[in-house]
Amino acid sequence: MPEQKQGLYRYYDERAEEYDEFYSGGGPASIRDPEAYREEVRQIAALLPDYIAGKHIDLACGTGFWIPYYHEKCSQITLIDQSEQMLRQCSLRAERLGISHKTLIIRGDVFAHPLLNNRYDSALIGFLNSHLNDAEENRFLKILREILRPNGRFVIIDSVWTDERGAVRSRDSLQKRHLNDGREYEIYKRYFTKKDFEDMAKEHEMNLTVVQEGRVFITATGTFACS
Ligand SMILES: C[S@@+](CC[C@H](N)C(=O)[O-])C[C@H]1O[C@@H](n2cnc3c(N)ncnc32)[C@H](O)[C@@H]1O
Repeated sequence: MPEQKQGLYRYYDERAEEYDEFYSGGGPASIRDPEAYREEVRQIAALLPDYIAGKHIDLACGTGFWIPYYHEKCSQITLIDQSEQMLRQCSLRAERLGISHKTLIIRGDVFAHPLLNNRYDSALIGFLNSHLNDAEENRFLKILREILRPNGRFVIIDSVWTDERGAVRSRDSLQKRHLNDGREYEIYKRYFTKKDFEDMAKEHEMNLTVVQEGRVFITATGTFACS
């Protein structure tokens, strides 16, 4: 595995216990307004139940931060991530919610783990695309198309690119990240505009709608056109 990927994987594994701080504007949050993060979490949380149901997969699920907002209409939830520590947090969350019986937790690489084709009614992809380059994203979207049932719906939540962000971050770069104890990592990260998502939809024959676009996050949902 390339050294850069190993660094990304290690960073998330070692950040697992403090990962959720991001959602209230802490940790690596680059816009210095915690309320913007909290408000946009509320916006996205209110949208998720409209799009997620049945047999669901949360790809690169991390701590499963979004599970409380979407689990109710799911009959089965598959949670996959490469990080043991992220999955530990995720499993604790499922226990707290009393939904362990309907969750399947898989430690694996979404590019390598053999997921069943034509299996899922919905999929959530939170903040994975922004760590993938174009070629990886193309590979990932092909996998996503294969594992979703016809008309299966995906939701992508990621970091938005705005002029405000441009004042503090590069659009596409290796970023230095620090844990609360000062440990430093270097990770690849990029940001998205609505047009980026629309271009992706054209290239991959998706029916996609951007349903949330704020100062910090951008959320799109869609289906793949039948082939
Ligand atoms: C920014 S976190 C997002 C977590 C979660 N999806 C969310 O929305 O809060 C990125 C996650 O992707 C995982 N990850 C990155 N590349 C992966 C891969 N190829 N296979 C599985 N997990 C991956 C990391 O371990 C990390 O938990």
